[in-house]
Amino acid sequence: MKTFDDLEVRRPALAQAYLALLAAQPGRPLALFAPRRVGKTFFLDHDLAPGARDAGMLPVYADLWLHKTAPIEALNHALEEALDDLQVPASRAAKLARTPVKKIGLLGASIDLGEEPQRRALPESPALRLDALVTRLAARHKGQILLMLDEVQTLGEAADGVTLVASLRAVLHKRRGEVRAVFTGSSQEGLARLMNTAGAPMYQFAQIIDFPFLDDAFLRLLADHFSTVHPGKALALADLRHGFSKIGFKPALMRDVVKAMSAEGVTDVSQGLRNYMTSDHQVAVWRALLSSVDAFDQGVLEVIARGEPPLSQATLQALAAIPGSKPTISRVRSSIEKLKRGGFLSKTAAGTHLDDPLLAEFVLQRAAQ
Ligand SMILES: Nc1ncnc2c1ncn2[C@@H]1O[C@H](COP(=O)(O)OP(=O)(O)OP(=O)(O)O)[C@@H](O)[C@H]1O
Ligand SMILES: [Mg+2]
Repeated sequence: MKTFDDLEVRRPALAQAYLALLAAQPGRPLALFAPRRVGKTFFLDHDLAPGARDAGMLPVYADLWLHKTAPIEALNHALEEALDDLQVPASRAAKLARTPVKKIGLLGASIDLGEEPQRRALPESPALRLDALVTRLAARHKGQILLMLDEVQTLGEAADGVTLVASLRAVLHKRRGEVRAVFTGSSQEGLARLMNTAGAPMYQFAQIIDFPFLDDAFLRLLADHFSTVHPGKALALADLRHGFSKIGFKPALMRDVVKAMSAEGVTDVSQGLRNYMTSDHQVAVWRALLSSVDAFDQGVLEVIARGEPPLSQATLQALAAIPGSKPTISRVRSSIEKLKRGGFLSKTAAGTHLDDPLLAEFVLQRAAQ
């Protein structure tokens, strides 16, 4: 039987639109930006990669966050794996069948496999290696490669970020007939940093797109399943919409809220959200999350959650109430940096705010107690 966890929205039309954009501007990647947990990676995996495959391309996915200190190596590793997949057939039997056998002894005692064709070794330098890998892979595949680089803001955080972006840009430009690229990122801050690196290579060459949130299609799935589980009960779409925007359009979180409502038989979405936020489990999760930073950082979070200017004199005075703290502008600044790196805060055109709107509410409620 289907459960809430099986509900998935596919967006093939969005994938097609992105592929068409890529085809219209060879050498220019797309950079899809959206907040955390809204479904970027899911889209690459479930919509963009299949769409690319249908169009005869070979999608290659690399999560640059996994090797924060060496993002180009992470990319090269993904390309090498893709190349291996094309070169080495999946099973040993297939390998035996493909390699011309020179000599087979009785009972297979001395099987001498034909020699695998040897290629020149790949260059050592990561940038040259990237170039060689892309070319080899495209030649092997006999078609275009679609590079999907997830968490691309990592490039802006790497020590040699400027050089990395420049090499990536050079390869994508030089090999524009063979490779297309889609980047995703969740940090507006990281994006800003990428754009501000010397010569602004990223900004000039990538087309920056706001990745759209899931819409009513997802909420309808939730509502329909709820009614299947609870015949005669219904969730109002308008209330779901309101709740979804309140939690920052995060589908997994919305699903958890509706699952909890289903378990309790609640149909009032705002009540469901309140119950979810005050549940022991959720409160424990937030407490643990907050205790991963010190009291001063928690104080700074609270100030930002209240929408107060974190560097004002009034704020510094208020923060002085935290035992053991000696608030200065630079202390607050470094705390903000730390909270950004930890994923607590993100920066948008509207300013710095808590990444998770529910956590913001929790922090405010806790402060009011
Ligand atoms: N189209 C979808 N339909 C149903 N659920 C989805 C969909 N997209 C995402 N989700 C749910 O949301 C969760 C988070 O999605 P995903 O990991 O793709 O987000 P993300 O934007 O890449 O997040 P992060 O910024 O943490 O990398 C998924 O594990 C999945 O449960
Ligand atoms: Mg992701």
